[in-house]
Amino acid sequence: MVKKNSCVFISGTGTNLRALIQNSRRYNFPISIKLIISNKKKAKGVNLAKRYSIPYIIINTKKINYENKLIQVLNNKNISIICLAGYMKILSKYFIKNFNGKIINIHPSLLPKYKGTNTFTRILKNKEKKAGCTVHYVNEKLDSGKIILKKSFELSKNENINTLKKKTQRLEYKAFSEAITKIFM
Ligand code: GRF
Repeated sequence: MVKKNSCVFISGTGTNLRALIQNSRRYNFPISIKLIISNKKKAKGVNLAKRYSIPYIIINTKKINYENKLIQVLNNKNISIICLAGYMKILSKYFIKNFNGKIINIHPSLLPKYKGTNTFTRILKNKEKKAGCTVHYVNEKLDSGKIILKKSFELSKNENINTLKKKTQRLEYKAFSEAITKIFM
C-alpha cells in the first residue's frame, strides 16, 4: 500500500498524536506521519516526535507570514492530509483554502453540540445523557465542517470532568484513526 503523507498539528499532551503514530505504523493504515507541527515549544507531544524520530517544527504564530512558510513546507513534503490533534489555534481562511478538504479535526463532543472550548463542563451542566467525540473536516467556521464520523457513550450518574474526559479521549483514539481509514479506503 502506498501511504499518503500526513502532518499532525498539536498544542498539548499529544495522546491523540500517540495513537495516530502507533496506528500509522501498521502496514495497512493509509497514512504515514511525515511531520509534526506544534505552536507550543513545551507541548508534551513534541517529545513523541523525538521518541519516534518524526521531523517536527515549532511555529511562532505571532510572526507575520508564518502560514506562508508553513504552506511551503507542507507542499514540499507533499502532505495530503493535515490532522489537528488538540491544536488550539485558529487557522486562517487563507490557510484552510490552501488545503481545502485536506484538514481534519477531532473534537470532544457530539457535534454540532458544544462547539468551542470547555465542552466537558457544559455537557455536565446540561445533564446530557450522551457524550462522545467527532472527527470532521475543517472549514472557516469553528467546529462546523462536514462530519466524517462520531462515536458516543452514555454518561453514568456520577460522571465528573475527569471521568468524562477519560472516556471521551479513549474513544477519540479509535475515532481519529477510523475516520482516516474511512477517508482513504
Ligand atoms: C482532545 O481531547 C481533542 O478532542 C481536543 O483536544 C484534546 C487533545 O488532547 N481537540 P491530546 O493532546 O491529544 O492528549
